[in-house]
Order: sequence, then C-alpha cells, then structure tokens
Amino acid sequence: MQTNTSVKLSCRAFDLLPQKAREFICEHPTIFSIFNDRNHCFESYTDPRDLNFNNDQKMELDYFDPFLMSPPESHWFKQKNIARYFDFFKSTHFDFLLTQNAKKEWILLQSQGSFSLNFKQQSAEFLRQSKKNLSQGPLYKAFSAKYFAPETSHRIFDASMGTAKDALLLNSFGARVSGIERHPLVYFFLLLAQEIHPTFEQILYGDSLGLSYHLYPLENRFDAIYFDPMFEVDHRASLPRKEMALFKNLVGADGDASAVLLHLLLQARDRVVVKRKLRGVDLGEVHSLKASMSYYGTTTRYDVYLL
Ligand SMILES: C[S@@+](CC[C@H](N)C(=O)[O-])C[C@H]1O[C@@H](n2cnc3c(N)ncnc32)[C@H](O)[C@@H]1O
Repeated sequence: MQTNTSVKLSCRAFDLLPQKAREFICEHPTIFSIFNDRNHCFESYTDPRDLNFNNDQKMELDYFDPFLMSPPESHWFKQKNIARYFDFFKSTHFDFLLTQNAKKEWILLQSQGSFSLNFKQQSAEFLRQSKKNLSQGPLYKAFSAKYFAPETSHRIFDASMGTAKDALLLNSFGARVSGIERHPLVYFFLLLAQEIHPTFEQILYGDSLGLSYHLYPLENRFDAIYFDPMFEVDHRASLPRKEMALFKNLVGADGDASAVLLHLLLQARDRVVVKRKLRGVDLGEVHSLKASMSYYGTTTRYDVYLL
C-alpha cells in the first residue's frame, strides 16, 4: 500500500465538507493541507476570462473551479487546462486537489484526471441492470441465494472496500454489508460518500489484519467475508481505464494478501470469498489451502473457502 500522498484543499472546500470528513482531515495533517483562499490573490482569477489565454486555449470547461471560486456563467476550460491551475502551486508540493466538480461532486483532482465516489449513482446503475442478469453472475453465486433472501438477512463484511463497487453490488442483491479500508485517502472518500448517501451498516478505517471478530461469540460474527486485494501488476495486460489507473497509482500493491486471507479464515462463520484474476494464483496456495469451489466470470474468478 502507498500512503505518501499529499492533498491540498481550500478552506472554503473544508467548510463545505461533512463534519466527519473534516475531523478525518484534522487527524491527518501529514496528508491534507488547507490553504487560505478567502483573501487570496487567486481571487483575481475568479473569472477565467481574466487569464491570459490565447483563443486556442479558451475551450469549454469540465472543471472550472478547483478552488471553489464563484462559478463563471459559462464553462471555459477543458480538463487539460487544469494543468495551468496546478502551475499556480508550483512552490508547494502536493499530489491532488480536493474540490468539487461542476456537478458539485467531491473529487480528487490531478492534472491527469480525477477520482470520486458516488454511492447513489452507482447503486442506481446496478438497479438499472436487471436483477436476473446480476443474479446469474459469479459474485452472486459465490455467496449463494441464501445470502440475499430478505428473511435470512445474512451479514457480509468487505475486508478490502476500495471503491465499494462490489460492496454496492452485494448490497443491491439484498445483503447487509459492512466493510473496512486501510488506505487513508480511499477511506476518506468512502466516508464522504457514506455521509452524503448512507448505504452501508458500517465502514471502518484500518487493516483487516487487525480484525478480531474471532473473539466474538459465534452468533455475533459476520456470516461471510469478501476479500479483493489489488491484483499483481501485469505488464502484458491492456491499460486500465483512466480512473482505474489513477486508483491503482494511488493505492499500489497489496503484497500481504495471502497473510490477510489466512487471518480472515478465522473471522467468518460460514465462508470467505476471494476475488482473483481469471487465471491468477490461488491466494491460499502458499499455505497449502485449496478453495472449496470457484466461480468464473470473463476476467475474474471468485474462490470460495467454506468454513
Ligand atoms: C482491488 S481494491 C478493492 C476493490 C473493491 N472490491 C471495489 O469493488 O472497488 C483493493 C482495496 O482494498 C484495500 N485493502 C487491501 N488489503 C486490505 C487490508 N488488509 N485491510 C483493509 N483494506 C485493504 C486496498 O487499500 C484497496 O483500496
């Protein structure tokens, strides 16, 4: 995991964030730094037309306002012009700006692209896809229908939440889902998304290696644990989508995944489901553990360890 990432945000952005997100920022001063833009000289750039761009550079704009200045009436810059904003900050090092885009969604902005999470939008996307199609997929089968029947309400713990896409899918099938994330910035975005659109029972910050549900009475443990560590880098593979590439750069590799699996096998009551590349090595292999069964998709596979 990579954690040496620095994020800048304006004090106006800070004021707009939910309380819990503000608390997290204050607890992590080595990651986040806040600059005072209230009386800042950048005010003079409020209207992008004041900038000395030639006509070729005046284009329509996707992200007009990294500093949350008052929106200009028309949109002027394309994403590539964000690089110019970053030039303003050359004197201080940072990797990302935390800001809002034109749709008022919170984003981590970099000159190469942006990263954001929106539980409402992603859940709606899953609901649009027919339930029938999704329930024929390998993730659904790896847990089995009993996990999603309303009368049984099984509890699933996602030990590596990431962008929470899989957790949202499990949630849309009808499971009760909680989870954990150890990367501070990824957790920060999960926290923000959960504050804006509460979806999960609980999202914890920390390492699932530190979980100790096995100390709980059996009936209080999670029925299943889902684990999806970052895949090892495959240089032969085609380049990932821009947003996914940014996420991969942000998080880095999860080199301890086999050790984590061994630990997770002690924590659940019924099963641990592990997502792997279609032909990736079995995570249990180094411990001479074999999955009870596997379900295959087109690019991924789900190994099920029954307990
Ligand atoms: C491949 S991504 C997970 C993707 C996720 N399933 C999704 O749908 O977006 C892996 C994520 O799990 C996190 N992670 C990996 N090992 C972890 C651990 N032991 N404890 C907590 N988080 C972990 C990483 O920081 C990363 O954000």
